[in-house]
Amino acid sequence: MLIEMVKMKKTLDKNTRDELIRTAIEARRHAYAPYSNYTVGAALLTSTGKIFSGVNVENAAYPTTMCAERVAVFKAISEGECKFVAIAVVTLNGGAPCGSCRQVLAEFGLETRVLIADAQGQVVREATVAELLPGAFRPEHLLDDSRGR
Ligand code: THU
Repeated sequence: MLIEMVKMKKTLDKNTRDELIRTAIEARRHAYAPYSNYTVGAALLTSTGKIFSGVNVENAAYPTTMCAERVAVFKAISEGECKFVAIAVVTLNGGAPCGSCRQVLAEFGLETRVLIADAQGQVVREATVAELLPGAFRPEHLLDDSRGR
């Protein structure tokens, strides 16, 4: 049922949005953020109707930290899912996805919807990846380059 609804609609219905945000809120409880104390939860909906959660995972060697959004994307990719419909990102205050996460999302589609919500599940912004990362570097840029050689 969810799969059919997702395939048919460009906009997300309320049930799907609620489920994504609920999943991201739940996931956020497992965030490992002892250094920043800024916990992030993400929930990624794929075109087959599966939802992959993610949390930020920090490290004492700070730069090796991984964001919640990318954890969700990498989990999905590693399980053979690479078409994304939407991702919900939940933080205490509705913080926006970082540039690296935008770039990783852009790799797999500019139309993926991004729901940015606070800890209460209030959506503070909804946008496509294209809107969040105008002029993204895309796989086709690499292809263009190799053709010219
Ligand atoms: N963080 C995310 O998980 N996603 C973002 O898009 C922005 C930042 C995490 C990384 C780090 O653990 C903490 O938030 C503070 O930067």
